[in-house]
Amino acid sequence: MATTRAKTREGLIGIDIGTSATKVLVIDESGAIRARHSQGYPLSTPEPGWAEQDPAHWWQAVRAGLDAVRAQLDGSLTIKAIGLSGQMHGLVPLDAADRVIRPAILWNDQRTGRQCAWITERAGGLDGLLAMTSNPMLLGYTGGKIVWLRDQEPASYERLARCLNPKDYIRLLLTGEHATDVSEASGTGLFDVKNRRWSKDLLGRLDIPPAMLPRACESHEITGTIRDAIADQFGLPRGLPVVGGGGDAVIQTTGSGLIDPGIAQTIIGTAGIAASALDHSAANPEGRLQIFCNNAPGRWHCMGVSMNAGGSLAWLRRTLAAFTTEEPSFDAMTALAEPVPPGAEGLLFLPYLIGERCPHPDPDARGAFVGLTLRHGTGHLIRASMEGVVFSIREMLELMAPMGLPADTIRASGGGASSPLWRQIQADALGAEIEIVSGAAEGGAFGAALVAGVGSGIWPDLQTATKTIEVESRTPPNPKTKPAYDAAFSVYKELYPTLKPRFDDIAKQTESRGG
Ligand code: XUL
Repeated sequence: MATTRAKTREGLIGIDIGTSATKVLVIDESGAIRARHSQGYPLSTPEPGWAEQDPAHWWQAVRAGLDAVRAQLDGSLTIKAIGLSGQMHGLVPLDAADRVIRPAILWNDQRTGRQCAWITERAGGLDGLLAMTSNPMLLGYTGGKIVWLRDQEPASYERLARCLNPKDYIRLLLTGEHATDVSEASGTGLFDVKNRRWSKDLLGRLDIPPAMLPRACESHEITGTIRDAIADQFGLPRGLPVVGGGGDAVIQTTGSGLIDPGIAQTIIGTAGIAASALDHSAANPEGRLQIFCNNAPGRWHCMGVSMNAGGSLAWLRRTLAAFTTEEPSFDAMTALAEPVPPGAEGLLFLPYLIGERCPHPDPDARGAFVGLTLRHGTGHLIRASMEGVVFSIREMLELMAPMGLPADTIRASGGGASSPLWRQIQADALGAEIEIVSGAAEGGAFGAALVAGVGSGIWPDLQTATKTIEVESRTPPNPKTKPAYDAAFSVYKELYPTLKPRFDDIAKQTESRGG
């Protein structure tokens, strides 16, 4: 259904600092993608439950991306602005000369249990924290990591002058500015999301100097211009503006057109996300969801994030390859799952392979296959994994439903959305029409480019910018599958509460160095 778009002369760069790779892309004023590049890098786990990365790898990937898109464009577009997106929550600790003190501690790192509990207590309990920031202090959030550094690596903390999130560290290298945007700042757990500013109250209670944190602006605001040396090196115009941008989990929904409430979004990437836009700053009564600032001023964002979604299939792929020379392709895996009936003939999968955040905030949650029989083969394992990930998204959408957020139409993105089978499982198990929109495969980079277009005046606002988005496919639910999915889901929902005490036992037996 994609239409042929008229070619235009002005371009926007979107850069997404992902967990597995950095993507650099260029769109033109019609929203068409004109150049793209992606470069991967490793993640290190120096202790069980830890996840770290060397920020120098992100920067190498950004530079490679800027070189590659320049070659692809060959002077055909005049670049008007850069927008940044990235994995949220990660802590890049810098000294007074902006040198990186230690490797970045990432969003999926689980070391801060004690610090998050301490922060909650200092805030006057969960209710106090929710009143100040609209969010619980989740393990992945930046606030706990700063306190962890103070508790566990005092020598590093002694040198700490600034804390930046991953994409904002790249902004620093591009422009020399210490700045962030309101969606990213929301994910530190230190931000007054309702009033779109740092929570001075909470920072005071935690003894975190406000000067350690960057200036927070709206996503389309210009935070600085690229250094001349960078402009010259990559053939970009001198004085090119860099706008605020957004945290990937938020700006991916912007890139799918979720500015106003009405449509929901699911993302099956490494993590799993169910999200919706809000036209007000809603309460987060049990603190199980994440309420963040949206990339549009006067809009907010509600989401549940599961720690492991697409990661389940990646794990299964590695596991299945143990006795072969090559890992099977994802297409080959889904082909095996296709003939297995909905519900995987009684086999259920809990996707909590690295603990969980939503719907169950529990770092000790574990994955499980439940219901195995001799009848089940590899195709069942694969299908049950795909269904388990979607059931986890269904639980998150159920948490969001009382906020009046409809989910009859869902825009799906992330690697999982490129599989026709996984799209159908989403449509059937969620009872919703699944739409794929242009740019869906591009992660946060596409939304970042749209926001850059607003900042540089190509579009007056995000509502207008997102009109360039086209629906490329629709997958309606097959009502015949509903009874099988409803039955499987009703058992699935009971598995976590039933197994929880045993997960706690397992965690005690395999305890790692926390803090
Ligand atoms: C959002 C979250 C993840 C990361 C990784 O809260 O933790 O989506 O941003 O991409």
